[in-house]
Amino acid sequence: MQSFKEAVSRHCRHPSTGPVGWLVKQILVRNNEYLEKEAARLLGIQPHDRVLEVGFGPGLGLQYALEHIDRYDRGNVYGLEMSTEMIRIATKRLHQHIASGKLQLTLGIVMNLPYPDNSMDRIFHVNCYYFWDDLDKGCKELYRVLSPGGAMITTLNYKLLKLSVEKDLNVYAHNYDPDAYMKSLEKTGFTGVRMEHLKDGDKDFPAIFACKE
Ligand SMILES: C[S@@+](CC[C@H](N)C(=O)[O-])C[C@H]1O[C@@H](n2cnc3c(N)ncnc32)[C@H](O)[C@@H]1O
Repeated sequence: MQSFKEAVSRHCRHPSTGPVGWLVKQILVRNNEYLEKEAARLLGIQPHDRVLEVGFGPGLGLQYALEHIDRYDRGNVYGLEMSTEMIRIATKRLHQHIASGKLQLTLGIVMNLPYPDNSMDRIFHVNCYYFWDDLDKGCKELYRVLSPGGAMITTLNYKLLKLSVEKDLNVYAHNYDPDAYMKSLEKTGFTGVRMEHLKDGDKDFPAIFACKE
């Protein structure tokens, strides 16, 4: 049982291949689509925006972000992931957008973003920040690549997260307290940092807003 819990925890932080990886991927798709959709909606993406999602998992949020981007404008969507398996799955789902040049997926970690300063207008991430090895460094990198006037949204399945941590099924979800994350955002220079408790149908979830002046 202990090794099963450890495997689930490992795949939650870094989804990979195999039966437990497959199971975790099903859980992500089934439970988190609304959070990905809401994050993309709350960002108020304009057709010409450059949008980044960090830790996109199966790629549903990228798909929603692409719906807001104009095919013929300069708008583009970028996805950064540390799991090669999630990149493979998202590439399969979104290959047409990659081929058209509207979507670029990159293997990497949030603490070392491969994008120039001020290169993104909108950033979002879903169920992700509590896995970062260095929260401050991740926030600092996101602040660096966000352009002045830009905005970032974080959504999370807080209830499921708390339950999974309590049941030892998410042992690598350190730093999951949203207050610690929000303090780190403010320390980095983000402004207007606030959390709202929102609803999507019968599901409620927290969304954290942050801006760069
Ligand atoms: C729990 S999954 C969430 C996936 C998706 N956003 C969702 O909500 O269904 C966390 C994802 O973040 C990625 N991730 C974790 N730490 C990361 C880091 N430091 N940099 C980039 N990606 C990271 C993992 O590979 C994984 O795909």
